[in-house]
Amino acid sequence: MDLAAFLTEERERVDGALNRLLAPADAWPARLHQAMRYAVFGGGKRVRPVLARAACRAAGGDAELILEAACALEMVHTYSLIHDDLPALDDDTLRRGRATVHVAFDEALAILAGDALLTEAFAVLGRFPEGDGFAARRADACRLVAEAIGSRGMVGGQVEDLEATGATPDGVRLERIHRAKTGALLGVAVELGALLEGVEGASRAEFAGFGRRLGLLFQIADDILDVTGSAASLGKSPGKDAAAGKLTYPAVYGLEAARRKRDELASSLADEAQRLERGLGVLGALVNYVARRDR
Ligand code: FPP
Ligand code: MG
Repeated sequence: MDLAAFLTEERERVDGALNRLLAPADAWPARLHQAMRYAVFGGGKRVRPVLARAACRAAGGDAELILEAACALEMVHTYSLIHDDLPALDDDTLRRGRATVHVAFDEALAILAGDALLTEAFAVLGRFPEGDGFAARRADACRLVAEAIGSRGMVGGQVEDLEATGATPDGVRLERIHRAKTGALLGVAVELGALLEGVEGASRAEFAGFGRRLGLLFQIADDILDVTGSAASLGKSPGKDAAAGKLTYPAVYGLEAARRKRDELASSLADEAQRLERGLGVLGALVNYVARRDR
């Protein structure tokens, strides 16, 4: 398949829907909505919504069913980046080649723009897909996403990431952090696509497991990019993890072993994708993209 063309088309669909779902930039309070839009339309790759839609297709569904719910994931992701960049957390001034929200606006507004995106995401999940027939699936989706990003998921992983900064290299701890901090939201993206299509039981658990392992792969690739990537392609300064003493795959295992782990996981996920999507090829192509991306 032509992955580049597919991704372009997918991103346009997602961006159009995000534009409709978010309050206009001049709506009260305008500065808040400007900050939210500045962050959401800042050049993100839209990996999580694209994955959710791909999983929905793999489960035999029409990806349009999940367009808005997929956008809710991007809203959650954007909130997490805004807060991650704050002075109290990673204290980053550059993201996707532009000033971070607390620099472009101010710290209070960055906190509140993140809060609002997180909250609005659940308004979207509570509303879409529309119709009484989807009420139970919407309720499941809200709970699933909330659990993935709450204190035992993404936020928990973020807390341990902060606590582990400067700690002795420890592979078990590292994997726990990555699975929670990054893996939980990517995992739930895949599971959401299946859930909203009506996939249940063991089959849904397979989608969920695949998604969580893909999330781990994503973060291993991210760790490697922090060592090998260029400022131009990353849109932020590389080398920040090492400078901050973060627990990463290259820090714990060395760069070569980290690359081997990435490639082994990618190849096992590619096999799993084939089983899940029965020849469709979209999830498989996305596995490759996640492992090989340069930003
Ligand atoms: C880059 O995503 C983001 C990650 C690798 C996730 C890191 C995890 C956090 C920042 C968790 C933060 C949590 C809280 C609660 C503050 P990407 O490469 O998809 O970014 P893009 O949208 O710019 O493409
Ligand atoms: Mg961080």
